[in-house]
Amino acid sequence: MDHEEVVVCKDVVKEYPSGSLVIKALDNISFSVQKGEFVIILGKSGSGKSTLLSAITGLIDVDSGDIWVNGHHITDMSEDDLARFRRKNVGIIFQFFNLHEALSAVENVELPLFIAGIPKAERRKRAEELLEIVGIAHRKDHWPYELSGGEKQRVGIARALAPDPAIIVADEPTGDLDSETGAQIMELFEKLNKELGKTLIIVTHDETLIRPGMRVLRMQDGKLVQDHIA
Ligand SMILES: Nc1ncnc2c1ncn2[C@@H]1O[C@H](COP(=O)(O)OP(=O)(O)O)[C@@H](O)[C@H]1O
Ligand SMILES: [Mg+2]
Repeated sequence: MDHEEVVVCKDVVKEYPSGSLVIKALDNISFSVQKGEFVIILGKSGSGKSTLLSAITGLIDVDSGDIWVNGHHITDMSEDDLARFRRKNVGIIFQFFNLHEALSAVENVELPLFIAGIPKAERRKRAEELLEIVGIAHRKDHWPYELSGGEKQRVGIARALAPDPAIIVADEPTGDLDSETGAQIMELFEKLNKELGKTLIIVTHDETLIRPGMRVLRMQDGKLVQDHIA
């Protein structure tokens, strides 16, 4: 395997029972993502996008096929190893932000660094730098309820960046934002990719977020039906 390939999926299948039928949520999916790529996974609701992200991040078991992330063969790992793998290698961004309501903006960003055992002064410094990068340093001591949706998502992005993971994944990160704010968040993702070289995999059903030059993987009924540069 090429060491620049940070994600490799080979013949990945995931089925869910549905009455007497089975739903093929992932129907023989194969693709790879190189270090430094910006990839959009596009498809209608129910096409298998979230299942694919859950498979790549080791949150679900697949029925067959192989997945490697940053050189780790995750389809072979125990639950404990997967939890450790995720903390080090994957930054996850959520549609509804999932901020800790009892922690300030900067404390939310510090949380993964606290879990990683980074000393207080160092994690505070790093969290403040990340809030600067995502454009929200002026809100660092605010509580989540004092922030707008777009501001909360910037904090969520800073938190995902904190452990410096090999890949950043986001499931409908603009789904709860108005279109203008959503476009600004996509611009931030592009900046993280172009200026900091971050590898990003973004799931969306929204075609209007696609910009020329983006690599788009299109899903339909659990199948990868198109892989092209927009
Ligand atoms: N935990 C589950 N149990 C049963 N069916 C599921 C489960 N998760 C997803 N599915 C089904 O798998 C298909 C793909 O779902 P999903 O990956 O959530 O699609 P998307 O994120 O593109 O909307 C859908 O038909 C969905 O109903
Ligand atoms: Mg989904």
